Amino acid sequence: MPSDDLSLSDDDLVRLRTALDGYTVDAVVEAIGDKGQAALARNHTVAADRALRGRDDTLATLTRLFILQQDVGWSAVQASLPAEALLEAGILARDGDACRARVDIRPYGSPDDGADGWLVSDHAATLDTARGAPRPDHVLGVSPASTTLAQLTMRRPVARALDLGTGCGVQALHLARHVDTIVATDLNERALACARLGLGLSGVSADLRLGSLYEPVADELYDLIVTNPPFVISPPTTAKFTYRESSFTGDGLMRSVVTGAADHLAPGGALQVLGNWAHTKDQPWDERLAGWIAGTGCDGLVIEREVLDPYEYVEIWLADAGLAGTQEYRDTYERWLDYFETLGIVGVGMGWFTLVNAGRQDPDVRVEQWPHAVEQPVGTALAQHFDAIADARLSDEDLLGLPWSLAEDVVQETLGAPGAEDPTHIVLRQQRGLRRAVEVDTALGGVLGACDGDLTLGEILGAVAQLVDVPATDLAADVVPRFRRLVADAWFASAGS
Ligand SMILES: C[S@@+](CC[C@H](N)C(=O)[O-])C[C@H]1O[C@@H](n2cnc3c(N)ncnc32)[C@H](O)[C@@H]1O
Repeated sequence: MPSDDLSLSDDDLVRLRTALDGYTVDAVVEAIGDKGQAALARNHTVAADRALRGRDDTLATLTRLFILQQDVGWSAVQASLPAEALLEAGILARDGDACRARVDIRPYGSPDDGADGWLVSDHAATLDTARGAPRPDHVLGVSPASTTLAQLTMRRPVARALDLGTGCGVQALHLARHVDTIVATDLNERALACARLGLGLSGVSADLRLGSLYEPVADELYDLIVTNPPFVISPPTTAKFTYRESSFTGDGLMRSVVTGAADHLAPGGALQVLGNWAHTKDQPWDERLAGWIAGTGCDGLVIEREVLDPYEYVEIWLADAGLAGTQEYRDTYERWLDYFETLGIVGVGMGWFTLVNAGRQDPDVRVEQWPHAVEQPVGTALAQHFDAIADARLSDEDLLGLPWSLAEDVVQETLGAPGAEDPTHIVLRQQRGLRRAVEVDTALGGVLGACDGDLTLGEILGAVAQLVDVPATDLAADVVPRFRRLVADAWFASAGS
């Protein structure tokens, strides 16, 4: 009887690692072609299968077994892998001459930070239009949400990081690039088994612990906590999948992740979460989320990327559960909507939470919507936001006494009627980071245009006041609050603390 824990002896792990040499992202893409790769991203294998026709080398065997979920002849598997050991560990299953992989092992590489290795997960349940429901303890492979979290993570060298809900271990693989000690937790034993194998193959050392939320880390402190938790808001009556939902009511799990971080962030430490939250009819959503952060004493930035109405939301997750086209579809849909109605949920937000334990008496908390394209990896811009808080809080006197330099990526866009002498709108736009935009009037535009690090803000204001013929104090009263907001939004390359 094969085991289900995917565990290999140290020797067999080395033999498997050696067999995977050459099974890299680039090699697979070259073998299956760009169209094969694009089709796989749509969950279709035909294009890749056709590209591999006539090949019986190791790369083709591994791709068929682990990525295309195909049966491969036992002798071909024996020629490519430590087959008996993988059978014993429950990684492969054999039926006569046919061999099948029981998990997905695939190469991973990120152009963002160079993280690379191999990751182990369960096979996608929906390949080639299959409608299978995942098993309750299904271990998800790398998803768009995983990539988004990896991109929003602030990648500074730190001593200790926690990957909460590690799943296949993809966040730990990234953390290994800039963190000395990684603790990775999960409620799902099977996820820890996948993470252990994948991280072992990738040469990443992480302390893997079983348990819910912060339970496995007791009173430990971390410099960075990252999590893409099971944030789906679903009724208690639907079948549960550990990778996406919990037994918490509404968005209670997200709230626990955020509020619980206060006890686990070292001074200066950060929590970064990707997830969903409810828009309820009894309270503005931003006020509700700001309330979660308020109790932590941390600085916080919440960026809501999109909001779905209940129907869109439920349809996505019903399809994800393999219920599309089944008899239960309609009933489950109705129950889900009833649940939302009972909780007063009128929409579901999706986005990013970042908290920093800055140790401020009066923490800085911002909750906003920003659905527009951002420069990836956006973690750099998030780090700049938290760095800029101190500058944005300078006294007026200090702000005016500094020579500010507008960041080089800022460009000006003008809008107006064709042939008009003056534009109707002048917009300054960041080309990098969050790619924010701000509409400016003549006064603010004139001040910002002169911020090249030479004159202080006070000197510039004096000169612009003369040009537009208003008292300098009036101009300062008008411009300084808006200037301060731009400082907070990292529009300046230098000056300040
Ligand atoms: C959406 S997956 C994310 C996996 C991976 N970190 C990523 O970024 O792709 C959520 C993970 O959280 C785990 N999980 C579910 N409930 C949990 C809990 N209460 N505490 C810790 N982990 C949990 C699931 O088993 C799953 O592996």
